[in-house]
Amino acid sequence: MLTKAAFQLKALISACSLSGVLLLSGCAEPETATSASSEPLDPVAAAQQELLSKGRIRAASCAACHGPQGISNNPMYPSLAGQDENHLLQSMLAYRSGEKVNALMSPQARSLSDQDIALLAAYYAALPGQ
Ligand code: HEC
Repeated sequence: MLTKAAFQLKALISACSLSGVLLLSGCAEPETATSASSEPLDPVAAAQQELLSKGRIRAASCAACHGPQGISNNPMYPSLAGQDENHLLQSMLAYRSGEKVNALMSPQARSLSDQDIALLAAYYAALPGQ
């Protein structure tokens, strides 16, 4: 009888702490969102957030060649980080239209929408260059 009561108590405690955790994690989310939006984001974070929320193409798919932070350590691939936003934008448009041709880059550019290009250009321009 005592053991059963103890078991029930234990079950009650763990159920409470579990709901406590759930409640806490449920509360933590909107709180972080509010504090994040009231503080000005740094340009990289802002561009990244924009890219993640609106871009169909994630910068991760460019990282294989251009480096995870837009800095390439292979001379075959140009670094994109910190480059002029308009230059990045125009280059992608040129690869997409066929005005500029590169066996590796042209197929990448063909799958980009105008918005992807704008967001990717803003993102890479905001990253710190070498
Ligand atoms: C398979 C490898 C590869 C991938 C993946 C790739 N690129 Fe490229 N990219 C290249 C190469 C190679 C060049 C240089 C082409 C040349 O010299 O004409 C280039 C050039 C560029 C340029 C012009 C840079 C400059 O300095 O003029 C931009 C901008 C660019 N890529 C953006 C992107 C973006 C954004 C993505 C992702 C959507 C991407 N690339 C994915 C290989 C790649």
